[in-house]
Amino acid sequence: MSAHPQDKAAGDARKPMTLPRLAEMNAAGEPIVMVTAYDHPSAQVVEQAGVDIVLVGDSAAMTVLGYDSTVPVGMDEMLMLAAAVRRGLVTPFLIGDMPFGSYEQSNEQAVANAQRFVKEAGCDAVKLERGGASVDRARAIVRAGIPVMGHVGLTPQTATALGGYKAQGRTAGRASQIAEEALALQAAGCFAIVFEAVPAAVTEALMPRMEIPVIGIGAGADTDGQVLVFHDLLGIFGGHAPKFVKRYADVRGEMVAGVSEYAGEVRSGAFPAPEHIYSIEPAELAEFRAYLDQETLPSGTFSHADWDWGP
Ligand code: KIV
Repeated sequence: MSAHPQDKAAGDARKPMTLPRLAEMNAAGEPIVMVTAYDHPSAQVVEQAGVDIVLVGDSAAMTVLGYDSTVPVGMDEMLMLAAAVRRGLVTPFLIGDMPFGSYEQSNEQAVANAQRFVKEAGCDAVKLERGGASVDRARAIVRAGIPVMGHVGLTPQTATALGGYKAQGRTAGRASQIAEEALALQAAGCFAIVFEAVPAAVTEALMPRMEIPVIGIGAGADTDGQVLVFHDLLGIFGGHAPKFVKRYADVRGEMVAGVSEYAGEVRSGAFPAPEHIYSIEPAELAEFRAYLDQETLPSGTFSHADWDWGP
């Protein structure tokens, strides 16, 4: 097992990320690095890598839970993942992604579920998708004292209504809608916002109106920061990767190679080798063998035929 105190020590030299520090970075034009994480080991990795913001994204639905979209994942699943990430982080700012169905009904529902991310999983903030009614939900959560990140452009929770997983804002009308949503979320008190799958030129045109940090994913190079999905950037997720993903590693290939080698060595008898085996003093072993030779030891094996299946 890994040594947690050492991993934590990696983050100790850096100060925990806060909202004022994020605002300072933004004002100074320092790029903000955001990445997703979904469990304790991935949290330790992103901690050590020194990212600024960690999102427990509802992309977990697809990357770690095996659903075919983000829609089915629920609050309890997201909270379990977020709590595991929290236990692996020291410095980055931690955001819990509010899953589909956890905030749309009413401001009360949105506040109650945002509070669960903070109280039960130790998140610093929550993220929700879209403009429209989500602007009201964001305002209510901010008023309840919980920082909110917005998310516009391609919003996967409502991808069906948007015509599928495709770039948004490619017409003047749709770009204006995205601008309206972004500005409304900013006015509602969001501390930052994600632009997903938006033409770079639309982002560039909109940036002068954005006072809060804009974190892009497929939104060009003019945003204040970038976010990628952990499993996409490391090449762990085997599914289709969108155009905006850059793969920095082939971890899935490494994992398959490692497990295949292990399987091969178990089958050939090469594993375990002497260095993986515990020893026992010869005298202790002799005494144990003598014990096994006793005739009074129970014998026979269990058979399901012996089971009493009842009346
Ligand atoms: O769920 C997620 O991972 C996200 C990011 C892509 C921003 O929303």
